[in-house]
Amino acid sequence: MLRNRRNSITAPKKPLARHKNAAHARTRFTILDIIRMVCGLILIGFFAKQLIPGIFGRFWSRETTGEGPGIVPAYWRDYKLPLEFSHRQLRDYDGTRSDTPILLAIKGKVYDVTRKSGLYGPRGTYRQFAGADCSRAFSFSLWSMRGLRETCSDDLTGLSTEARQRVDEWARFFHERYPCVGEVKN
Ligand code: HEM
Repeated sequence: MLRNRRNSITAPKKPLARHKNAAHARTRFTILDIIRMVCGLILIGFFAKQLIPGIFGRFWSRETTGEGPGIVPAYWRDYKLPLEFSHRQLRDYDGTRSDTPILLAIKGKVYDVTRKSGLYGPRGTYRQFAGADCSRAFSFSLWSMRGLRETCSDDLTGLSTEARQRVDEWARFFHERYPCVGEVKN
């Protein structure tokens, strides 16, 4: 009789433990869940940006931060743009002088990239492009890194169609992003 009562008290232990384990398993995140969540958030962000640019644009669109190709820095106020630069004159705008804008040329067009002085200034990753026309450097694939090692040159002769397209894409990139202040004269 006594043994029976003890049995009836201890009996529910097993199912309870199993229940606890099942609940624990349900709430445990695996690395796969985290990857799924991150991908989901990126997707939501992407579609939200496409659908409601008015709201999200404020945070990352350059048009709304006053830094578009149409915004010409005050330095050029007294100049009649577009200007003509020789290669020698262009070198004066390589970012080494703090009172002078930083200019970069691609396919003969000169852009004011001063607002990205962190990239094109004397200590920037892309400082070799400042004060020069290094169009040929932009013909290499980004992953080859040759573009950053080659000597600066504006000569596109001998390039494949694909390589020329890459230069064109970069030229479009700069045109859409920075004010064009002139051309390189040869
Ligand atoms: C492994 C290769 C590369 C990686 C990971 C990389 C990464 C980046 C990143 C993260 C930026 C944005 C910097 C910022 O806005 O703060 C950038 C900008 C830039 N990259 Fe690269 N880059 C690579 C190779 C190259 C190569 C080979 C070239 C040219 C030949 C190049 C040209 C540029 C230029 C011109 C910009 C500045 C764009 C601007 O004016 O905002 N990159 N890169």
